[in-house]
Amino acid sequence: MLGTQWGDEGKGKFTDLLAADASMVVRYQGGHNAGHTLVVDGESFALQLVPSGVLYPHTIPVIGNGVVVDPFVLLKEMAMLADRGVDVSRIKVSGNAHLILPYHQQLDALHERHLGDAKLGTTKRGIGPAYADKSMRLGIRVQDMLDEKIFREKLHTSLGHANKILTKVFNRLPVDPDELADRVLAECLPGIRPLIADSINEIHAALEDGQNVLFEGAQATFLDLDHGTYPFVTSSNPTAGGACTGAGVGPKHIDRIIGIAKAYVTRVGAGPFPTELFDDDGDRMVDIGREYGTNTGRRRRPGWVDAVMLRHAARLNSLTDLAITKLDVLDTFDTVKICTGYRIDGEIVETLPYHQSQIHKAEPVYQEFDGWKTDLTQITDVNELPANARTFLDALAEQARVPISLVSTGPGRKQFLEFS
Ligand code: GDP
Ligand code: IMO
Ligand code: MG
Repeated sequence: MLGTQWGDEGKGKFTDLLAADASMVVRYQGGHNAGHTLVVDGESFALQLVPSGVLYPHTIPVIGNGVVVDPFVLLKEMAMLADRGVDVSRIKVSGNAHLILPYHQQLDALHERHLGDAKLGTTKRGIGPAYADKSMRLGIRVQDMLDEKIFREKLHTSLGHANKILTKVFNRLPVDPDELADRVLAECLPGIRPLIADSINEIHAALEDGQNVLFEGAQATFLDLDHGTYPFVTSSNPTAGGACTGAGVGPKHIDRIIGIAKAYVTRVGAGPFPTELFDDDGDRMVDIGREYGTNTGRRRRPGWVDAVMLRHAARLNSLTDLAITKLDVLDTFDTVKICTGYRIDGEIVETLPYHQSQIHKAEPVYQEFDGWKTDLTQITDVNELPANARTFLDALAEQARVPISLVSTGPGRKQFLEFS
């Protein structure tokens, strides 16, 4: 299950829903830049690191090797869940996942400030610097905390590099590796130690036993480091292949790939966005859809749903089906639109241009539909969908070239329709 746009499609909601039939839910990339919201019986849970299957007593939530883990945040999130009566004892963290430590966050904020007007609008959670350390072979893994000598040595090495950047490039004070080691070992290790697991072995044991394992993507296809609108992307691979590397499974183990798409589009942070709206329709999407970051509180940029992107996402991820969310947000619109192609330098293109300058100047070509002007939030059967809503969804599936299997009509766990 993964995002097909620029994030916040409602991955948390559908992961929670489908986790009812899964014995394991695995996060495979990203970190606490994610904000996944679950609403169950009117109670809302905002999760950043803990997989969205955690609310069910029968699922094992696994934080896979591809995730970057801030141990302070993980413990805080677990404490929040425990306070609210959720059993967090089943959560497992891959020993191979890399740590985000406070200096990664400091560097993230400093890099952003350094970029000035060219800033990416990151979540400042330290994601980029932590993955950069991983790629430079300077990263520290969760398992390193289990061996104090190794942990201290690695912190010295990693900070030997980071401190030079902090002091010589950004004119900041250095971080003392031993003080940080003391803090992490005292404040985090006791709580994290019982969670550390050989996630590969556990995931494969579940698969070999014929159990359902659900992989929960964070961020989205167009925030993917390789396939997104670089450099306005995150530092991991949310696309389906990322589930293989970030959880340690081969592609043949994945038999269904659900792309989550909003019935419109939002984007937080900088970067090209062909269907972006600056008018009343956009303001209404933001107001009705409450499009403010779960995580950072930032206003999300709104736009019409873009089938060029969906077709591309279908290819990149081998999508088997689409789950459409937030259809109810469009309930009061007189007309609704699907972008079917881009006009670039007078020509219509229907595939995503590889040259990003073209995406920056793409003008959307729209197919317009009459709105359904009906409250969808109470509908429970797909046959009750108004004809205009059905027409819109059918056109979206046709344009995306992927069938729609699920439609969400409200934030609650029970607010969804299943297409046969
Ligand atoms: P994620 O990052 O993909 O998990 O999405 P977020 O949780 O960041 O943002 C989606 C927001 O929309 C959350 O506040 C959800 O509770 C809410 N939501 C999810 N599905 C629906 C829906 O079908 N209708 C409405 N109105 N809200 C929804
Ligand atoms: P979920 O999982 C929306 C965006 C940031 C920024 C860019 C890079 O809730 O969909 P980063 O902190 O990752 O280095 O920021 O990516 N971004 C998200 N946008 N939803 C998210 O997660 C996001 N995670 C990162 O706004 O533009
Ligand atoms: Mg989110």
